[in-house]
Amino acid sequence: MKVQTLPPQNGNFNLANYEETAKNFNWADVEKEFSWHQTGKVNIAYETIDRHAENPKKKDQIALYYSDANRDEQYTYEDMKKMTNKAANVMKDAGIQKGDRVFIFMPRGPELYFALLGAVKVGAIVGPLFEAFMEGAVKSRLEDSEAKAIVTTSELLDRVPVNELPHLDTLFIVGDNVSEEEGKVDFLTRLSSADENFDIEWVDREDGMILHYTSGSTGKPKGVLHVHNVMIQQYQSAKWVLDLKEDDVFWCTADPGWVTGTSYGIFGPWLVGATNVVRGGRFSPQDWYGTLEKYKVSVWYSAPTAFRMLMSAGDELIKEYDLSPLRHILSVGEPLNPEVVRWGEKVFNLRIHDTWWMTETGALIVANYPSEPIKAGSMGKALPGIKVAIVDDQGNELPPNRMGNLAIEKGWPSMMRAIWNNEEKYNSYFELDGWYVSGDSAYMDEDGYVWFQGRIDDVIMTAGERVGPFEVESKLLEHPAVAEAGVIGKPDPVRGEIIKAFVALLEGNEPTDDLKEDIRQFVKKGLAAHAAPREIEFRDKLPKTRSGKIMRRVLKAWELDLPTGDLSTMED
Ligand code: PRX
Repeated sequence: MKVQTLPPQNGNFNLANYEETAKNFNWADVEKEFSWHQTGKVNIAYETIDRHAENPKKKDQIALYYSDANRDEQYTYEDMKKMTNKAANVMKDAGIQKGDRVFIFMPRGPELYFALLGAVKVGAIVGPLFEAFMEGAVKSRLEDSEAKAIVTTSELLDRVPVNELPHLDTLFIVGDNVSEEEGKVDFLTRLSSADENFDIEWVDREDGMILHYTSGSTGKPKGVLHVHNVMIQQYQSAKWVLDLKEDDVFWCTADPGWVTGTSYGIFGPWLVGATNVVRGGRFSPQDWYGTLEKYKVSVWYSAPTAFRMLMSAGDELIKEYDLSPLRHILSVGEPLNPEVVRWGEKVFNLRIHDTWWMTETGALIVANYPSEPIKAGSMGKALPGIKVAIVDDQGNELPPNRMGNLAIEKGWPSMMRAIWNNEEKYNSYFELDGWYVSGDSAYMDEDGYVWFQGRIDDVIMTAGERVGPFEVESKLLEHPAVAEAGVIGKPDPVRGEIIKAFVALLEGNEPTDDLKEDIRQFVKKGLAAHAAPREIEFRDKLPKTRSGKIMRRVLKAWELDLPTGDLSTMED
């Protein structure tokens, strides 16, 4: 197939010369841009907010624009410093200490950002939870991490099974007329009266900072722990890849419940001192173009599903908006089809820059850079200072154009430092000597461009969200009519993949459409809307190994009409 190459964009870029930089770059030099280089102690919240608020030239710059259907607000760096200090005081007064796990479970809104950074200022480890999570998903994450506190809203509180979580002793509730009782704190009232000065907890660069739960193909969601040192790479990649400068208005469309929404919805842009846009509410093409226009967004980071949805809304709509300040567009989370890249060129007159990374990597690893050619369909090249390779199952580096495991040389600055409470799982990522193995398969061409081929495991990426089949299967099995369940990702033109469940029913249940809908709702209510199967197919029996494991690859072969491959481990 012919590769389409798009020439570099015009402009003054932070990364002007990729080859030179890649040759000479040293991560230790990045540290010297921050004062903790001298003191040895750090707090990422200080570096994202206070450092700018203490700079007379920066303090009045807008740090955060927030709007939704009912609110329209803006906060300067100085405002952000005060509000995050207040949040830190509220938490400290309630007994939160360094190392405690504090979860944040609420829709986007300024308070989410105050609470998250406030908790970090206290030295706590924050655990962001996507607002769509239902009770089962919330419980398993709080239980595993032994969370001490949660910041949530009155509306979401009934999804937090407080009585089943013995470690959870403080609830910070965001809402009107919150009645304070043992363990319950009226967050907004306390926030308004709290002191706006706070003595930040200075920590070591290797101290825990954020815990993102994410899915694998087996077992429960796992807690990926990042430390304060993650900032080094978030900062540098925000400069080189997002190409952020201090006067940029940046919009990352991801929710902070996912890693993109924290690494680049919070830390990256503020570490660099840019202005962040947060838009609440649901997706609509009008709303999104309106947001780009309203805030004069100059750099925009989104995902292929969103671009495809905008694409299907038609090109005429775009002409109604003035998007002239927009100068740089990026994408992450799922394969970016060349077709979408071509659409971007046509309607925005800009290239869409694909980027690749994972919850576990903490920050960008592979990217397309504005000063470099793009090969449509490729995720780009390794970040300078990081070695990316394609390795075989023994850890041998493969020559160009050979497909294998997408791997990263161990020890990049923003690498996860633990899987919470699960050393064995953590070690399993590093079984090939010196390499982190991503679980993605890819090849690298002779120019160093990486081409994504697929997941090696059964992890599903639906609309850019990572869903583990095991968690969905476990929930399905709790349904009173379900005997066996197997879940796969089924290719979908808009969402990348949708979740499809194969279900065998317990005796006495009729395979009706009503039952399908009931099962779907059961998962939606028990786990999360995005984790509920869009398609359910009833089967008398599911393919299993002799040890009883559902063989998802056989389900996938059924679905796609492919050969089923080696069935020697299958029962009967
Ligand atoms: O399969 C890859 C896919 O998303 C996975 C990581 O998911 P998560 O930890 O939720 O992080 C998402 C965004 C940081 C990867 O293993 N993925 C990510 N970026 C791309 C991608 N697949 C194809 N192309 C990409 N650019």
